[in-house]
Amino acid sequence: MPVRIVMLGDIVGRPGRQAVAQLIPVIRQRWKPDLILANAENVANGSGILPEHHQKLRDAGCDALTLGDHAFRKFQAIPLLEEKTDIIRPANLPQGARGKGTMRVPFPAGSAAAGRDLHVITVLGRLFINPPVDDPFAAVEAMLKTVADEHPMILVEIHAEATSEKQAIGWQFNGRVSAVVGSHTHVQTADERILSMGTAYMTDLGMCGPQESVLGRDIDRVLTHMTTGMPAPFDVAEGDPRICGAVIDIDEKTGRATAIERIELKANPAAPPFTAK
Ligand SMILES: [Fe+2]
Ligand SMILES: [Fe+2]
Repeated sequence: MPVRIVMLGDIVGRPGRQAVAQLIPVIRQRWKPDLILANAENVANGSGILPEHHQKLRDAGCDALTLGDHAFRKFQAIPLLEEKTDIIRPANLPQGARGKGTMRVPFPAGSAAAGRDLHVITVLGRLFINPPVDDPFAAVEAMLKTVADEHPMILVEIHAEATSEKQAIGWQFNGRVSAVVGSHTHVQTADERILSMGTAYMTDLGMCGPQESVLGRDIDRVLTHMTTGMPAPFDVAEGDPRICGAVIDIDEKTGRATAIERIELKANPAAPPFTAK
């Protein structure tokens, strides 16, 4: 029986956190995943993460969290990343960066893979994105050398702007990892598929956050900035909260993926936790 992973795209601000909290029970009921992961780089008012957000997302049912280019936007993320084993920053930051770039997420009791781990790595792309980082291909290659399990289950997240770079990572590790999924653009792509050697692939998971927005930010603020060139604080928007991601099935005997499904669920902003005071 394959194991099932859900990976959610970048969670943006409070609407994103609330949508995740409201809809994880729906995901658990409908897809019955063994593990739920999410990218949490935008949870702190759109940039970075605070320890309280980590706790809230764990309480909401996320088993582990990844970050991206905004990993250290809040300095409180440093002790969080050093102390917790269920959250990682990009692996290809310069040497000396604090925190971890890879993690092992244990499958729960009752799972077909109980007693084993999902190996997770997130890497930043280098095209059209800051900060300057080391080679993401080499970073994944180095991580693979550390995995000793037979037929390991490995999830690679490529947090990048360019679709070309994301596809290239997918093909480079086709057949050697269970899945390569993209994040960062906040726009879900419709190219989910199993590559020729059994790696699940999707260029971008999309965003968990307000879809009535520009990538999660207030439309008026962004338009003001783009039409006048004047600075405008990009507050997080509120309208039409949704969560986006993928459901991935992995044959635990081979470590290869057997299915990938793109998901987008609409939250109800008139129901808890949106209405909680
Ligand atoms: Fe993001
Ligand atoms: Fe990002």
